Amino acid sequence: CEKDDFRDLKVLITAGPTQEPIDPVRYITNRSSGKMGYAIAAQAQKRGAKVKIVSGPVNISPPYGVEVVYVKTADEMYNEVMKSYADFDILIMVAAVADYKCAQIAEKKIKKKDEKLTIELVKNPDIAKELGKVKGNRILVGFSAETDKLVNNACEKLASKNLDMIIANDVTQEGAGFGTDTNIIKIIKKDGEIVDFPLMSKLEAGDRILDEVIKLIGKNGVD
Ligand code: C5P
Repeated sequence: CEKDDFRDLKVLITAGPTQEPIDPVRYITNRSSGKMGYAIAAQAQKRGAKVKIVSGPVNISPPYGVEVVYVKTADEMYNEVMKSYADFDILIMVAAVADYKCAQIAEKKIKKKDEKLTIELVKNPDIAKELGKVKGNRILVGFSAETDKLVNNACEKLASKNLDMIIANDVTQEGAGFGTDTNIIKIIKKDGEIVDFPLMSKLEAGDRILDEVIKLIGKNGVD
């Protein structure tokens, strides 16, 4: 029989990449497919939650019954999340937000001219970190896609962004990370507990993440 342990809970999820324009025809982005965030959304909705995804540009369809707001840039994602988070109990930051944006967006297409072209980049807002400052007793979950020092880097982010839990995955491993339908995750909790999982579908990984979230809900006392 189906679980409905997320009944009465509201879950806000960021998913996908962001696109940072360079000029009217070009942008900077990354390899995120949106599959992990959409999988968590599908499972949360199946378990009874009211779910909203703030999504960067992706090529996949949202789960049936889930509200989706599409954005392109990190600034747009930040604004949408900040506008909505107060209404939610659980905030799951899965999006691969571009760390930097162009200092200036060229109004016209940049022409091929010199041998070298320099584009100045400036930092984007860190959505998860800003939420960490204002979350109150909401549960805040982050992701840490790494190529090395997996646990160290993830733990550092857990602390610096004031997350309750971080999902670490080594994107160099076969079957883990960007674009695939599977993932290999470690769930690291604020109290230091690490739960290691084998290769599994992103849908199943989503369910395991939600299992840990529901345990934290009890502790944080969100009602
Ligand atoms: O620092 P790093 O980008 O590796 O942190 C990853 C976590 O922070 C993810 O949960 C990601 O969604 C979130 N993040 C964010 N806004 C940013 C950068 C990362 O919400 N600008």
